[in-house]
Amino acid sequence: MKKVFVKSYGCQMNVYDAERMADMLASEGYSETGAMEEADLVILNTCHIREKAAEKVYSELGRVRELKKERQGQGQETKIVVAGCVAQAEGKEILRRAPAVDVVVGPQNYHNLPQLLAKARTERVVDTEFPIEDKFDHLPRPSKAAIRNRGVSAFLTIQEGCDKFCTFCVVPYTRGAEVSRPVSKILDEALRLADAGVRELTLIGQNVNAYHGEGPDGSVWSLGRLLHRLAEIPGIARLRYTTSHPRDMDDELIAAHRDLPALMPYLHLPVQSGSDRILDAMNRKHTGDEYRRLIARIREAQPNLALSSDFIVGFPGETDAEFEDTMRLIADVGFASSFSFKYSPRPGTPAAEIETQVPEAVKAERLARLQNLLETQRQAFNHGTVGQTLDVLLEKPGRHPGQMAGKSPYLQAVQIETDSHGIGDVVTVRITRAGSNSLFGEVVRSGDQAAA
Ligand code: 5AD
Ligand code: SF4
Repeated sequence: MKKVFVKSYGCQMNVYDAERMADMLASEGYSETGAMEEADLVILNTCHIREKAAEKVYSELGRVRELKKERQGQGQETKIVVAGCVAQAEGKEILRRAPAVDVVVGPQNYHNLPQLLAKARTERVVDTEFPIEDKFDHLPRPSKAAIRNRGVSAFLTIQEGCDKFCTFCVVPYTRGAEVSRPVSKILDEALRLADAGVRELTLIGQNVNAYHGEGPDGSVWSLGRLLHRLAEIPGIARLRYTTSHPRDMDDELIAAHRDLPALMPYLHLPVQSGSDRILDAMNRKHTGDEYRRLIARIREAQPNLALSSDFIVGFPGETDAEFEDTMRLIADVGFASSFSFKYSPRPGTPAAEIETQVPEAVKAERLARLQNLLETQRQAFNHGTVGQTLDVLLEKPGRHPGQMAGKSPYLQAVQIETDSHGIGDVVTVRITRAGSNSLFGEVVRSGDQAAA
């Protein structure tokens, strides 16, 4: 049996796509390996969102090339595939810069991998066209065993691409226009996941709350409606979705946070900046106060909501005062977790053309201050859960024998002592202590057992 090694960079969409590639190759006789040295096929599933992410790929390709040579010396062949958003954005350029690469394949084309690999026996190939057909129709169904191996929490792509065109972002170019999968296809996939023992579904998409898929009756379903339907699936205890745009938080979705116990009280809702001038220059289509008011409305629907966000510092032309507006928004809103980045100019995006780029040292200083504040908020949030009773979905064995590790509704890692509960159980836990990266707790009730 041939072996494939897949390494994924960047967002959850890539994690999902990497799993689909592995499923696809399983039906071509490849088994997955975690050791690159023994792989006959190495796939780098790349991210293009920031310059650093893209450069990482080229340095990794240098290492893979060495490996290919070594294996060649032992009479073994290694094929190298670059997939994902760097593949989409750079195409042929990758073949030029990285001579060891055999196949370059975009995120909309990886269902063609078997044919591309066959072609790659004699020539180097690039496939980054946006095809008319739907790649999802060509992907094989993963086996129950493959699903189980990946754990009780699964990603499910419901939407791809983005029409928002934030001026800093490459996604509308690499992932293309926004497309929603039909409800029936999503339900099929969700039922199969649940049947294999999955307890938590995270619905993913570049702009997931813009979801507007075709329902079984031909009408258009929103994300709120889809969540209600998915919550009815036996075995599914938890639902999440990521990542969202503030402009697409409609009333139905906000109401779902109030009405659906399975929808976890956690929301990743990127704001990027707290300055109205910068938000406008970013083409975010909302102000700082609109974001504040929106959060107030969602918290009214779900008072326990834990919030997470993305921030960019040093967007072109950002002044000290504008940066302080972001600090103020963070102080006003309060975040349980977050991701923050220095602005990174991406070729082909409007913001990269702005002449007043912020010096690196200023970006670094702003990022450090911002991350300090966000880290203080994260720790305060975690410490605030000590003494509370929370449901924990058990996902894997813990650090020590007799321990299990799982997630709280707020996506916090929780370690518990237990020998009577297994993976997939939802147990009620009293939180006793907060470490810097996980919580510790004791079981107070057994709660909801995973199906045997
Ligand atoms: N520079 C820095 N951060 C970026 N992001 C997207 N594009 C850029 C860029 N050019 C961040 C945004 C987005 C997250 C996925 O990555 O915060 O929400
Ligand atoms: Fe990029 Fe903006 Fe679309 Fe998010 S909403 S993927 S940041 S263009």
